[in-house]
Amino acid sequence: MGAVVVVGTHWGDEAKGKFVDLIGQDADVVIRYGGGPNAGHTVQVGGGTYKFHLIPSGILSPGRICVMADGMVIDPGTLAGEVRALADRGVDVSGLRISHNAHVILPYHRDLDRLEEARRGAAAIGTTGRGVGPCYADKASRTGIRMGDLIRPERLRARLEAILPLRNDVLVKVHGSEPYSVDALMAALEADARALAPYVADTQAIAGEALRTGKRILFEGAQATMLDIDGGTYPFVTSSHPISGGATIGTGVPPTAIEQVLGVVKAYTTRVGAGTFPTELDDATGERIRTRGNEYGTTTGRPRRCGWLDAFALTYSVQVNGLTGICIGHLDVLAGFDTVRICTGYVRDGVALPAFPSGDVANLDGCVPVFEDLAGWPDDDISSVRRFEDLPANAQAYVRRVEALAGVPARFVSVGPAREQAFPTPGSPAPAGLFALSSRPGA
Ligand code: IMP
Repeated sequence: MGAVVVVGTHWGDEAKGKFVDLIGQDADVVIRYGGGPNAGHTVQVGGGTYKFHLIPSGILSPGRICVMADGMVIDPGTLAGEVRALADRGVDVSGLRISHNAHVILPYHRDLDRLEEARRGAAAIGTTGRGVGPCYADKASRTGIRMGDLIRPERLRARLEAILPLRNDVLVKVHGSEPYSVDALMAALEADARALAPYVADTQAIAGEALRTGKRILFEGAQATMLDIDGGTYPFVTSSHPISGGATIGTGVPPTAIEQVLGVVKAYTTRVGAGTFPTELDDATGERIRTRGNEYGTTTGRPRRCGWLDAFALTYSVQVNGLTGICIGHLDVLAGFDTVRICTGYVRDGVALPAFPSGDVANLDGCVPVFEDLAGWPDDDISSVRRFEDLPANAQAYVRRVEALAGVPARFVSVGPAREQAFPTPGSPAPAGLFALSSRPGA
C-alpha cells in the first residue's frame, strides 16, 4: 500500500484536519510529522467538536496507530491535557505513539518566543507564542531536550544542568527576564512526563514495521506550504518543513513509499500573522468572508486575513509538494456572491511573472494579482449538499476551474465542518481507494 500525505497549499488553516479525519478512517497508521502546538485542528464528528493542537486528528478513528514523529515539537502540558480531555470524552487514545526523538517545548521557549517577538517591534512575525521557534532553534543548535530525555529523570536533570545556564543568560542578560532553576523545572514537568511516558516509543521502528507489513499510512501535515522555513514567505514562516518532503524526514518512511500527496485548498485564501499577502481583501468582501467562514485562529483567536483564492500560489504548491490531487474546502463560505474571483498570476512593473516567486517575502513586493472572474452561486446555502452533482452548476464550474489551474484532479470537496459534509468528486476513489492509487506512470 502506498503512503498518502495531506498538506496545506497556502498559509495554513485550510481544514486539513477534516480531510485527515475523513481519509484517516481507512488508514492503519496516521503520522503527524512536524510543527507543534502552533497548529489548531478542529474536527466535527457525530455531533461532537474536537479541537487539537498536538494530537493527530486521526485519533478519532478507533483502532488507528497515531504517531507524533521526530519532526514535532511537543509541549508536555498541552499534550497531557489533550490526552486527558479525549479520554474523558471516551475516545480511545491507546493508539498514540510519541517519538522519543521529538523535541520538548519548555517554559523558557515560550518566554523567549514572547520576548523575541516584543523586541522585533514593528517587524514582529506574529508567531503563535507557543515556543515553537525557540524550541526548533535549540534542536538545530543541539541544545534541545527530547521526549526520551523528558521521561528519564536522571537524563532530564543532566540535560537541564548543561543547557539551563545558557538559556538563563539569554533570559536575564538580554531580555531582563527571570531565570529558571533545574529543580523548579523538574518539579513542573514531573506529572506530565509520567502521564506521557507510556506513549513514548521508537516511532521510526513502528513506521518501518507498518511499511513491511503493507499497512495504509497517512501523513497529517500541519501548517502549510507558504509557512515552510525554506520555501515559504520567509521570515514570516514557521520553523519547520510543512511541505510533503517533511513527511519523510525522521518518520522512518522514505520518499519512495509515498504515492499520493493531497493538497488541501480553501476556496478562498487566508493567513494569520504578518507578511505580504497579494490577494488580501482589506474591505467589506474580506470581512464578509471572515464572518461567514468564522476565520478566527483556533490557537490564538486572532482574526485571519482573508482574500480571493490565490491559484498562482497554488501552482507553486503543486510543484514543491508533488501534489497528485487537491481537496477544496469551505465552498459553502463563498455562496452568496454574484461573482467570485481567482488569482491566476502576478504582474510586477507591468510584466507578468513566469512563476510564483518563492522564498523571501520581499520577493512578493510589488506583485499585483491578476484576477479571473467567475459567476458565483448567489442564493444557495449549499451546506446540506452531499454529492458533487448536487452542487449549483456555478460551484461545480468553480471547482473545475481551480482543478484546471492546479493541473491535478480535485479529489474531494467540502461544504461545511462536519465529516459528512465532505465528499469525493465524480470519478475519484472513496478515501480507502486512495491508498491503492499509484502515482507512477505504468505502475
Ligand atoms: P510560529 O509557528 O508560532 O513560530 O509562527 C510563525 C508564523 O506561522 C506566524 O505567522 C503564525 O501565525 C504562522 N502559523 C504557525 N502555525 C500556524 C497554523 O497552524 N496555521 C496558520 N498559521 C500558522
